[in-house]
Amino acid sequence: MKLKIFKVAVFLTSLTPLALLGWFALTDNLGANPIEVITHWTGDSTIIFLLITLTVTPLRKLTGWKDAIQFRRMLGLFAFFYGCLHFTTYIWLDQFFDFPGILKDVAKRPFITIGFASFIFLIPLAVTSTSAMVRRLGKRWQKLHRMIYFIAAGGVIHYWWLVKKDIRWPLIFGVVLGVLLLYRFWSTQSLAKIAGRFRRLQVSPVAQKVQSQ
Ligand code: HEM
Repeated sequence: MKLKIFKVAVFLTSLTPLALLGWFALTDNLGANPIEVITHWTGDSTIIFLLITLTVTPLRKLTGWKDAIQFRRMLGLFAFFYGCLHFTTYIWLDQFFDFPGILKDVAKRPFITIGFASFIFLIPLAVTSTSAMVRRLGKRWQKLHRMIYFIAAGGVIHYWWLVKKDIRWPLIFGVVLGVLLLYRFWSTQSLAKIAGRFRRLQVSPVAQKVQSQ
């Protein structure tokens, strides 16, 4: 029951960026260039949710809070949701569905190319996020979903590339992603080491002697 209430709370909190944006639009507070504000707001929300999604597993491992995993799918889908809003803002409000122009832009401006690629790679992750898909894909699901690290890196590079002078925010996002990647590398390495030691112990002459007795 407690977990259910917590899930609803996380869901509603995740809607806050959208609610705030709606509020600013309704109260005419989007400034002189509303399209730019919406693009930036939705872009920031996408990268933030991608990074929050990536913190779930380390949080679970470090705290032993098993239920944390139940939030990963929801947070990942919110990243996709804000990514969709960001992309829609671009193709609708920015480019007015001028598809030849969009294709040219994707090919010409590297930061758009990498943002576009990151968004495209997010689609299979969202589609395969259901429990049925997790069961159906088995080990392949984990391999596929590891792509989220590349997608987040693509998002950071996309942001870094578009800023002209002030690199503070892309730098902050990059450092957070770097720490998460290091943790992942470190935790899988140590797990591999433990597994390796265990295997060596099993095949060691002493262990074989013990087993044969
Ligand atoms: C996973 C996918 C993506 C992420 C994480 C992402 C993230 C971001 C972020 C963080 C910003 C900067 C926000 C700020 O300045 O406060 C941004 C800006 C922008 N993004 Fe994305 N983005 C993604 C995909 C895309 C796609 C698919 C497009 C269009 C094809 C796109 C087009 C833009 C544009 C036009 C800007 C504003 C550029 C400017 O200010 O000149 N992004 N994005």
